[in-house]
Amino acid sequence: MTKCHRSRTSRAVRISFILCAPCVVLLTIAGAGAEFAASDAQSGLGRPRATLDLTERQPRRKFIAEHVVGPLECRNCHQAEYEHWKQTKHAGRAFDLLRTQSTAREYAEALGIPLKEIARNSLCVRCHATPRVDEFGRPDVVPGVSCESCHNPAGGATGWLNSHAVYGPSGTRRETETAEHHSQRLAASIAAGKNGTDDLYSLARRCFQCHAVGEEALVNAGHSHGSRNFDFAEMFLSDLRHNFHLAQHVNASVSTLWLQQLHVKPGRTSAGRKRMMLVLGAVAELEVSLQNLSVATDEDGEYFESVADRVIDAFEYLTEDILDELSEVPPSLQRVVDIAQPFYKKIDDGDFSLATDATSCAEAAKAIADVAHKFARSSDGRELSELEEPGSHLP
Ligand code: HEC
Ligand code: HEC
Ligand code: HEC
Ligand code: HEC
Repeated sequence: MTKCHRSRTSRAVRISFILCAPCVVLLTIAGAGAEFAASDAQSGLGRPRATLDLTERQPRRKFIAEHVVGPLECRNCHQAEYEHWKQTKHAGRAFDLLRTQSTAREYAEALGIPLKEIARNSLCVRCHATPRVDEFGRPDVVPGVSCESCHNPAGGATGWLNSHAVYGPSGTRRETETAEHHSQRLAASIAAGKNGTDDLYSLARRCFQCHAVGEEALVNAGHSHGSRNFDFAEMFLSDLRHNFHLAQHVNASVSTLWLQQLHVKPGRTSAGRKRMMLVLGAVAELEVSLQNLSVATDEDGEYFESVADRVIDAFEYLTEDILDELSEVPPSLQRVVDIAQPFYKKIDDGDFSLATDATSCAEAAKAIADVAHKFARSSDGRELSELEEPGSHLP
């Protein structure tokens, strides 16, 4: 069968933390296309574009911890997604690791993080929790990786929740929303920073921003360089899939991904969408790993070595295991390969040098992200039909 099982090791993503005024915690999820300038966010609100160009570049995004509303807010309308999420390791184990493992203390000590801050205000909570700000303006967390870890902080005066479920002038119901309003609403919530289903690439790369660890000091202190053999499609479709908003009494007739073209069975993600997940996950791993490599400083450290390995793995996975199955590689994906190839070759030949290659490596990652966002927004996966459908063995 195809490429669903990965035999190679994987590792790596990167998130950098900026503490601004005591009451404003900005968590920049670094890497191509990831930061979202606050000014962009504001300018998008209130003046949504009438039509949304789905191929335009992903806005740059910042993770604004003070705008995190927490999963209970989402539960008001997404009960099924919430209940499902509560069962996942993201809701429990991810956070518990910080408090139960002796290794957690070791990593924290190595990085000079006070013990009492590990699970509340530290580098660690960027990946093991959802950073937020409490009522007194102090750094705090939602325990675990929660809705907004992946879909982005939703609250605040400019947050995407303001436009997310407002269907028109007061009293308008979802069933009677006009097409024009729907498209404005989508544009406004994207401009306000929502990481949603319109761009599967943004969601895929978000996984790797935690599951591929882009923190050199952390990895050199002994922390894992990330989850191995992490295939976005497999990982998401097995434990995490939560496209449940088929609840028609809540959501009326608005499309859900379950009802798209190339749909296979009732109540399931379409085959084309799954193939997009497979491909975009592999591209995201490659892009994020190139980005992670570009920020290394010590060529003799564990971090450099493990991230370089991950670039090799990700490139080979994409090209040999996935794209080789296609009689015709879509031009966007060929472009991704062409951008990454020189770096792959240099690393493979032992010629990659941070002094000379780091800058172009970071640029390559950005260029790959641009291509991938566009591809994600413009394709439903039909040009990938020769690939085996990922997750078809899953219940
Ligand atoms: C960039 C994201 C990221 C950051 C930052 C991060 N972790 Fe992790 N952590 C992970 C991932 C992903 C895993 C699972 C890795 C695996 O499966 O090999 C993990 C695993 C762990 C584990 C379980 C495995 C072990 O080594 O015992 C502990 C404990 C842990 N992290 C503690 C910490 C502490 C403490 C910090 C802060 C000093 C921290 N982590 C920062 C992503 C991160
Ligand atoms: C007031 C009700 C309401 C609340 C609160 C709400 N949602 Fe939704 N959401 C909906 C409805 C209805 C849809 C169906 C699609 C539509 O109307 O556009 C939806 C669709 C979505 C989608 C899929 C479409 C897309 O935009 O990508 C995501 C993701 C999502 N919601 C995430 C969240 C998260 C995360 C929260 C909490 C921060 C949240 N929602 C809070 C009503 C709500
Ligand atoms: C904010 C950081 C973060 C993000 C974003 C994130 N994860 Fe995780 N994830 C973690 C941590 C931390 C763990 C706990 C690691 C462990 O259990 O060893 C985890 C655990 C998991 C597990 C359970 C692993 C196991 O050993 O059973 C799966 C599956 C998973 N994540 C998939 C995903 C997918 C797919 C995405 C993207 C859609 C994603 N994660 C996004 C941090 C994150
Ligand atoms: C680990 C990352 C992650 C977390 C945590 C997460 N989501 Fe999602 N969510 C995704 C991804 C990836 C998709 C895209 C699925 C697809 O395109 O098929 C998605 C899709 C959705 C959708 C759209 C489903 C559809 O049929 O169109 C909704 C609604 C949603 N999420 C709500 C939530 C809510 C509410 C929470 C918290 C209870 C949550 N999500 C937590 C990653 C996540």
